[in-house]
Parts: sequence; structure tokens; C-alpha cells
Amino acid sequence: MTVHFIGAGPGAPDLITLRGQRLIAACPVCLYAGSLVPEALLAHCPPGAKIINTAPLSLDQIIAEIAAAHAAGQDVARLHSGDLSVWSAMGEQLRRLRALDIPYDVTPGVPSFAAAAAALATELTLPGLVQSVVLTRTSGRATAMPEKENLPAFAATGATLAIHLSVHVLEKVVEDLMPHYGPDCPVAVVWRATWPDERIVRATLSTLRTAIGAEMERTALILVGPALAAEGFEESRLYAGDYDRRFRPVGTEPRFPDTK
Ligand SMILES: C[S@@+](CC[C@H](N)C(=O)[O-])C[C@H]1O[C@@H](n2cnc3c(N)ncnc32)[C@H](O)[C@@H]1O
Repeated sequence: MTVHFIGAGPGAPDLITLRGQRLIAACPVCLYAGSLVPEALLAHCPPGAKIINTAPLSLDQIIAEIAAAHAAGQDVARLHSGDLSVWSAMGEQLRRLRALDIPYDVTPGVPSFAAAAAALATELTLPGLVQSVVLTRTSGRATAMPEKENLPAFAATGATLAIHLSVHVLEKVVEDLMPHYGPDCPVAVVWRATWPDERIVRATLSTLRTAIGAEMERTALILVGPALAAEGFEESRLYAGDYDRRFRPVGTEPRFPDTK
């Protein structure tokens, strides 16, 4: 018996991996985080599967469901939105499963920052301009930020910021970023990327609040940084005609002469 933690992707049901879909179809028990996991994915469960929405459950109740499946020898598909490596509450579940000696594995999913970047058709790292992406958030009611992880500190790097769980404190986010990126810095907010009601607002730090209007929906990502609207960046050396590389030797004395 194994508990399969599966990244369910950002919302569109066809953005789960083939492995994730196959595992759902093979598990007689499915636990899913109902607030953001698309219900259409549950159609992959086998007939008669026990399907449980964990949104209203406590950690103790979730682990009790998994322990019951374990006692019955039944594999479990455990679905969380996006990818499991960020803000999934997987860590605390794995710790409980280790203590109970219940086996598990993890299948990645498409994270929401990647879905939002795709919706914007934007590369978040551009040669000579930005080479880092910071996945972060601001303090919430349930989760305080560690002291050194604050927006001004990340903004001081000039990297592209992908700010999760924060659209409800937009004014404060803009206030923290403005001294570092300046009023003309491009910013985009993507609500419910890949869902049918996806919405995108592109603006600058100084025009964002007005551009958004009275939007209240919280499932949104704020992406900030010069990469979001840049045209004047360098081309990558990797594909430059004169760049000698393993897969494309160039010149009379290539660096990797034996590579075909
Ligand atoms: C609890 S976190 C889950 C993150 C998820 N594990 C991931 O890989 O993206 C929820 C936050 O992720 C962001 N998010 C999740 N799905 C989204 C989507 N489809 N579009 C925009 N933002 C999304 C929002 O900032 C939301 O408040």
C-alpha cells in the first residue's frame, strides 16, 4: 500500500501529468484538496472509489482516513493544487506518515507560477536582465513570514517576484516594492490561471491599483519585475551562431570535437 501525493496542476484538468492521471485511476481511495483541485480530475478515479474532499477536514482527520486505507491495504491518491513543493501542506502529512510507517511517493504537478507565466506568454528570466525568480508570499492569518523573508529584501535583488497568497494586501505589496523597482516597473496579476474564468491585468506598479478595480477573488498571482515587459534584452549565447557547444561544434578547433 502506498500514498501517492500528486500535484494536480493549476486548474485546467488536462494539466495533470500522465503519471498523476494513471495513479488516480489505480487508487481505490482519493483525497483531494477541494478548494483548488478541479473536480473534473475525479473522473479518473476507478468506479466505486472512495472520494474525500479534505477542505473541511483537520490534519488529524486526514491522517485517520489515510491510516484506515492503509489498514485495508488500499492505495491512496492524495491530490493538491499546483505542485507539491510549495504551499501544499504536504510536509506535515509526510512527517505523520513516516511516524506511522506508511509508505508514500510524490508526483510533481504544474505550479501556478508557471501557469501564470504561460498565460502571459512570458519568460521570467531574460539574458542580461533577470536570472532569478523568487517564489514568495506575504504573511497570512495562518502563516507568519520568517523575519528575513520580506518583500523589500527580495525586491532589492531586482529578480522577478512571483507573489502568492497576497492579492488581498495589494496596496502593501505595491508600497514595499515601489522603492526598489520604481513606478514604471511592469507588473501582472493573473487570477485563476488556466480556469475558464482566468483573468489577467497588466499594468505598472503605479497604475496597478486603478487597473484592477474592485476585484476580490483571492486565487491570484502577482508577478513583478522588468522581465514582464522587456524587449531590450540580450539573446542567449546558447543559440548564438558562433557559440561552440557540445551539440553544435563550431570552428576548426571545437571544444567538444568528438560529439556528433
Ligand atoms: C496554497 S497556495 C498553493 C500553491 C500551489 N501548490 C502551486 O504549486 O502553485 C495557493 C496560492 O497559489 C496561487 N494559485 C494557485 N492556483 C492558482 C491559479 N490557477 N492562478 C493563479 N494563482 C494561483 C495563489 O496565489 C493562491 O493564493
